[in-house]
Amino acid sequence: MLETDVLIVGSGPAGSTTAALLSSYGIDNILVTKYRWLADTPRAHITNQRTMEVLRDLGLEEQAMLQATPNNLMGNTVFCTSLAGEELGRLRGWGTDPLSHARHRMASPTEMVDLPQTYLEPILFGAACARGTRARLSTEYIDLVEDESGVTATVRDRMTDQTYQIRAKYLVGADGGRSKVAEDIGLPMQGKMGVDGSINIVFKADLSKYVAHRPSVLYWVLQPGSNVGGIGMGLVRMVRPWNEWLIVWGYDINAEPPQITEDFARGVAHSLIGDDTVPVEIVSMSLWTVNHMYADRYSSRRVFCMGDAVHRHPPSNGLGSNTSIQDAFNLAWKLALVLRGQAAPSLLETFTQERAPIGKQIVDRANQSIGEFGPIFESLGLLETSEPVAMVANMDARKRDTAEGSRRRKALREAIAFKRYEFDAHGVEMNQHYQSQAVVAGDATPSNFSEDRELIYQATTVPGARLPHAWIERDGKSVSTLDVTGHGQFTLITGIGGDAWKGAVDAVRERFGVDVRVVGIGPDLDWEDHFGDWARARHIEDNGAIVVRPDHFVAWRSQDLALEPEPALLAVFSAMLGR
Ligand code: FDA
Repeated sequence: MLETDVLIVGSGPAGSTTAALLSSYGIDNILVTKYRWLADTPRAHITNQRTMEVLRDLGLEEQAMLQATPNNLMGNTVFCTSLAGEELGRLRGWGTDPLSHARHRMASPTEMVDLPQTYLEPILFGAACARGTRARLSTEYIDLVEDESGVTATVRDRMTDQTYQIRAKYLVGADGGRSKVAEDIGLPMQGKMGVDGSINIVFKADLSKYVAHRPSVLYWVLQPGSNVGGIGMGLVRMVRPWNEWLIVWGYDINAEPPQITEDFARGVAHSLIGDDTVPVEIVSMSLWTVNHMYADRYSSRRVFCMGDAVHRHPPSNGLGSNTSIQDAFNLAWKLALVLRGQAAPSLLETFTQERAPIGKQIVDRANQSIGEFGPIFESLGLLETSEPVAMVANMDARKRDTAEGSRRRKALREAIAFKRYEFDAHGVEMNQHYQSQAVVAGDATPSNFSEDRELIYQATTVPGARLPHAWIERDGKSVSTLDVTGHGQFTLITGIGGDAWKGAVDAVRERFGVDVRVVGIGPDLDWEDHFGDWARARHIEDNGAIVVRPDHFVAWRSQDLALEPEPALLAVFSAMLGR
């Protein structure tokens, strides 16, 4: 029987990231995936800063940047009647608004980019295999049996139709929105599948003349009467600037799923472009459903589910693949510590405690964002009638020199600006906060968000928050505080006068056998803080300490040199590691 420490089911963003991380940490793992290759349609694309930080930690940021569409081409979120037709309004999204751009620059060493799943998955999967993952394509997970010491999974080789078993100490179910693993371990799911239907049409067409002057990843097209529900809103999404595209077009979930032909797809594309002289090459067509579902619990004893297996929601806010990758970053180091015997299995319970609230939050947010198109429809008078001709007349009213025209113009401006909760929600992406055994409160006061928590990222070193980014320097080389932490290891950051923490760290190493690096930031220490950015962000005294987990989250902090650093730090690690 094949044996491994961790068996991963699925090679999507969640599974491939888990494999890449575990292999980087030196943990033996096998990945099985159902199809002969990775994602074949460019579904997820918005790749937010937090995800780019995970790629940076893995040493894959540069590769991702080479393949991605850069941030400055992402942001003109357009609302129009067709690409060639009238523009109704625009929103600067994804950190391209000057103020938001500054906040993004200050928040992270990396940038949000557009990286379709067809490009991202090979980077992650390639790194995993190059670093040690044993991967089996065309291999389907069938079922599992858990016992005291491990999991035995039955899989089927789809090329030979032979079934065989793989024995693992732990199993990660990263098998997507129809997760068989989640079903087999009976994860409690809340919400509903199939709340709406969508058609994806991938096509090639040079649309430069309609879009290059307003570069964006998303062009929303409102065409009354041409779709389910009468309003007729379609999305033209950039896959590659400006000649590869994906259309998202709704269908009535309560009717028979439509039979989409190439002619139908070309017709939809021409109608949304608004110019049927543009040559369009249809690449693929598929149907998918909008879901609103999340799991309350992410694991049984030795089986952990992540990604779409435990949070299923529409693409709004671009959170799916991002959250899946961040789930993996949360679990991988915990598995590594437990497998090495450095932490008790109780550490693994913190995966649900920390990630399930985030999963619920993003499922709710993504679905709420769909509802928040309502004020746009309302401002254009699209909800006042179901007659397409009357809808068009109502839309035209905004061009008149009348009280109604003025009211509609104002309402439309405000409704579009409000969509920043979908297209520029930096806080949703970066303000994630954990509470669990792996976060030791110490002197912490809870995170107190003084600005809108969904829109604005607010840096803090309160335990449970992601370590703030600041540029620090040595010998002319700038690095981020996130670069000198992570990489599978705990870090203790201190400053001038914090020497005594080093002895305490030695005691932790000796007692628990875990590696903790010590980073000194200050004049003549490991790293200089020339701008004073770190001193402003750290919220502790020079001689205080911040313990950072391998996933960049703050585990504990001490305002200053506690009277006895050694017992204080030993107690922190004992609580965290459950030993
Ligand atoms: P995913 O579904 O990607 O992977 C599951 C894996 O499991 C696959 O490799 C599959 O073959 C395998 N598998 C399934 N059953 C198996 C079995 N029995 N045995 C073996 N293998 C099995 N997200 C985002 O962050 N930003 C965005 O911009 C968008 N945009 C977007 C647009 C559209 C149109 C869609 C439909 C979706 C998005 N998403 C998104 C969502 C994103 O695509 C989704 O959240 C991620 O792919 C989820 O990643 P997972 O790895 O969890 O599952």
